[in-house]
Amino acid sequence: MNNILVTGGCGFIGSNFIRYLLSSSDSIGFTGKIVNIDRLTYAGNPENLNGIEKNFSGRYCFVKADICDPQIVNKIFKKYKIDTVCHFAAESHVDRSIVKPDAFVKTNIIGTFNLLEAARLYRDSQVLFHHVSTDEVYGSLGTDGYFTENSPYRPSSPYSASKAGSDHLVGAYSKTYGIPVTISNCSNNYGPYQFPEKLIPLMILNALEGKPLPVYGDGKNVRDWLYVKDHCKAVWEIMKRGKRGQTYNVGGRCEMQNIDVVKTICDLLDTMVPMPGSLPRKNLISFVKDRPGHDQRYAVDFSKIEKDLGWTPDESFETGIKKTIKWYIDNKGWTDRVKSGEYMSWIDKQYNL
Ligand code: NAD
Ligand code: DAU
Repeated sequence: MNNILVTGGCGFIGSNFIRYLLSSSDSIGFTGKIVNIDRLTYAGNPENLNGIEKNFSGRYCFVKADICDPQIVNKIFKKYKIDTVCHFAAESHVDRSIVKPDAFVKTNIIGTFNLLEAARLYRDSQVLFHHVSTDEVYGSLGTDGYFTENSPYRPSSPYSASKAGSDHLVGAYSKTYGIPVTISNCSNNYGPYQFPEKLIPLMILNALEGKPLPVYGDGKNVRDWLYVKDHCKAVWEIMKRGKRGQTYNVGGRCEMQNIDVVKTICDLLDTMVPMPGSLPRKNLISFVKDRPGHDQRYAVDFSKIEKDLGWTPDESFETGIKKTIKWYIDNKGWTDRVKSGEYMSWIDKQYNL
């Protein structure tokens, strides 16, 4: 793994992954270079990687590119002699996929197809291809049971259906063309640099400003939360030592109802930054109309990665959520710019758009 192409590296998990790989190089034995391609959609923010180019000069470069453009993708493989792909780029937000599914089909399916084609046509199909996917492809659970790597695919939203399609393409390219692929299906991530449309950062920022906290339906839907750095470690272990052609589930062993996540955030913020008059932030909770097709419960059996690769999450929800809230408080400049859209004009200036 000398020349790794990271797609979607300016997004939430991709930027945490690039930071992890470069800043932990010595301890994890990574000596190669990273090429980050990202189209810089509303969710892609180069500010997430501030300082990286300077601090790791010669080992990191950014190319603004769309994975839906096959010519650019092929050119990048050749120019940078890519031997490994770690594919994060995607449209990632379920609610957006319900309102406007077309970009999801395009980026998540056609974009993945273009990358696979480039990998097939380059280096005798021996480019290592890691595909970052989601537990949402398995659909919804009732009160019992866990998703295993053998669970049937039953996606509910246009987002999860498009990710399921991309997983199948990756599997097919492994079987048909012998491309050495690995796939990870991970549960809900949280942590620094997450765009504030997702539950946890949205609740933190609204609660800090005293705004309503919209909880869908009865708030009893369950998600399994994983701190983003733990996910990054899992992806790296799979790329390094995962069996080619295999899928690994990744989870946090941290199932919570949404309402409990929101109440935990309120309580922690009340202690860290009390509201005027010490009013409890739980008063801000507002139950709103449910998400159509809302999956009831996700829970991941990740014993395979634990047993085969020795990976297990380091953070509990208790430790991870405290770090996350602190990060959002300490990085008010980042959150203000993201919310104001100011970083979009900053991007225009940076890249002469
Ligand atoms: P994100 O929305 O924060 O970032 C996505 C990135 O992809 C952005 O930088 C965006 O600009 C880029 N991108 C989008 N379309 C592109 C295109 N056509 N060409 C090039 N770049 C493009 O997403 P995230 O939360 O960091 O998720 C990353 C990956 O992990 C996704 O594949 C997602 O399905 C998967 N995943 C996410 C979670 C989670 O909880 N966030 C959990 C499991 C799996
Ligand atoms: O499970 C992995 C998936 O987790 C990833 O593949 C997706 O990319 C990622 O977005 C996430 O999907 P979810 O739909 O689970 O995440 P989201 O943060 O949008 O919502 C988490 C839960 O909170 C879900 O049950 C819906 C609910 N919710 C969400 C928002 C934004 C609310 O109740 N209120 C809200 O305002």
